[in-house]
Amino acid sequence: MSNAELNKFEDKIARDVKIEPRDWMPEAYRESLIRQISQHAHSEIVGMLPEANWLTRAPSLRRKSILMAKIQDEAGHGLYLYCAAETLGAERQATIYAMLEGKMKYSSIFNYPTRSWADMGMIGWLVDGAAIVNQVALQRTSYGPYARAMVRICKEESFHQRQGYELLTELVKEGNDEQRAMVQDSINRFWWPALMMFGPHDKDSTNTDQSLEWKIKRFGNDELRQKFIDITVPQAEYLGLTIPDPDLKWNEETGHYDHGPIDWQEFKQVVRGYGPCNKDRMNTRRQAQEEGKWVVEAGLAYDAKQRVKKAA
Ligand code: 3HC
Repeated sequence: MSNAELNKFEDKIARDVKIEPRDWMPEAYRESLIRQISQHAHSEIVGMLPEANWLTRAPSLRRKSILMAKIQDEAGHGLYLYCAAETLGAERQATIYAMLEGKMKYSSIFNYPTRSWADMGMIGWLVDGAAIVNQVALQRTSYGPYARAMVRICKEESFHQRQGYELLTELVKEGNDEQRAMVQDSINRFWWPALMMFGPHDKDSTNTDQSLEWKIKRFGNDELRQKFIDITVPQAEYLGLTIPDPDLKWNEETGHYDHGPIDWQEFKQVVRGYGPCNKDRMNTRRQAQEEGKWVVEAGLAYDAKQRVKKAA
């Protein structure tokens, strides 16, 4: 590395000029991006599983087609993000096997079970709602392909969040007491894991300081989490839901909601692979990888043939 290259890189970061695949970049910047983008992609793909569990049990054709469209969107999000990781030199199959072998992560939230139809609405409203807060910020990330992938993903994410909130509104406003109780049970199970999606407190975060310096991240974990809470609490109140946090209250002074402590032991357990559904999710992904091997092999063979033809 020459000082001139590093100065040029740092100057581009300072001026919010996007770093592109062919630009010189510090190896550590490349590695941090491969780590975050690949884990983001894994989250999109594993995130399809909890919802797929309810596809065959959707209460109407309309609800089934909305859920189908959403799940298909998530597959597309995974594809964009794996492609963005490939621009940094991350080989697709190696990246996927790194997750299957536990060497790469995916979002903890997808290791919780979906026990009722209300969970489909809760995932759309809370999980995609949290993802939107995080991903809108990532539209301004310093790495060009990642920022551009986020623009497309955020547009689709808004549909995901709206359909989830509409589903819950139907249940609580037009449903019966049993359905309202089903929604309350759902938020009781998903509220705290949704807050964990934003990662550990910044003071405990291993990557945030450097990510902020490189403008991979534009805000810290705690700031985005707080933004999500401030947006979501009034929406929960409109639905007549009780958020399972007795310490949650509006703080006139700060202009934010104060909230209770997050159970970081639970978070660590789930991230380490000991959540309620980790084993199921990985077994399903391994089986899909095995059964889909022939598609990858055929695609690679076709690609190799095309390259030979082109070179001739
Ligand atoms: N689940 C699993 N691991 C998590 C996590 C979570 N909720 N939060 C943090 N971690 C991991 C980090 O990956 C890191 O481990 P690593 O160094 O081995 O990668 C460690 O915990 C410490 O966390 P840091 O805060 O230091 O890590 P980051 O700076 O990477 O911040 C992040 C974590 C905020 C998740 C950041 O990686 C990020 O913004 N990623 C992109 C967005 C993303 O991946 N979202 C996941 C959900 S996608 C989704 O919901 C799709 C929707 O359509 C359903």
